Amino acid sequence: MNVVFIGPPGAGKGTHATILSEKYSLVPLAAGDILRQHIRNKTELGRKAKDVIEKGELVSDDLVNSIIFHEIEAAFLQKKGVLLDGFPRTIGQAEALDKFLTGHRSALDAVLNFDTSEDMIIARLSGRRVCANCGANYHLRNPLLRPKKEGLCDKCGQPLTQRKDDQPETIRHRLETYQKETAPLIGYYRRKNILYDLHGDYDVNEFQDEIQTLFEKLKLTV
Ligand code: AP5
Repeated sequence: MNVVFIGPPGAGKGTHATILSEKYSLVPLAAGDILRQHIRNKTELGRKAKDVIEKGELVSDDLVNSIIFHEIEAAFLQKKGVLLDGFPRTIGQAEALDKFLTGHRSALDAVLNFDTSEDMIIARLSGRRVCANCGANYHLRNPLLRPKKEGLCDKCGQPLTQRKDDQPETIRHRLETYQKETAPLIGYYRRKNILYDLHGDYDVNEFQDEIQTLFEKLKLTV
């Protein structure tokens, strides 16, 4: 199966993609994580993406499509489905994805819309800390998501930092970009009858239950 997570910045897409991909043996593909990896590795693509990301704007469709399609092909070679987090993010990307999947005799099974309030987004992003080394994601104030040792990653022990694009001014710009470029995808997928709305304000465990109930109802299996 192939699933897409859509939602504003800080809706919890990355957090829940990590939990679900383990349970369902899907390959998680987070566009933002892949781009940040390129920035860390100082690749040509990372050089092009860095300023754009730090300003809270979108990297061009061509660049993002090529890296994501390459990763989807690798997953399909292993006979696995994908969980796309943060891709597609424009109508152009969605149309290119449809064409790509049709060309690979595949399709999307479900698009989950994380319907999250602005207050919740600000609270989540202002408290988010990430591992600069492995990218693992934590929250300072949420007891379920706090690191075991303050300021250090549970997985690799490296220091946690705040993402540059989690500054209040950039968060506002990312939200505007989301409304302008990405929110139209909700109608796009609703018309295809594969869009499912979720209560993005729920806490982590309630939200996981909500997603799993939906997966069972839709009989989504690997
Ligand atoms: P990306 O990294 O994808 O950023 P985003 O979509 O803005 O999403 P976030 O990572 O900020 O939030 P999330 O929804 O994953 O929330 P999280 O789980 O971390 O993209 C970054 C940039 O890359 C973009 O701005 C753009 O420039 C570029 N880019 C990426 N994809 C692109 C594309 N397709 N095209 C062009 N450009 C692209 O949760 C947030 C916090 O809340 C965490 O601390 C978490 O621990 C906590 N939390 C999560 N869930 C809950 C919950 N249920 N209850 C309480 N706390 C929770």
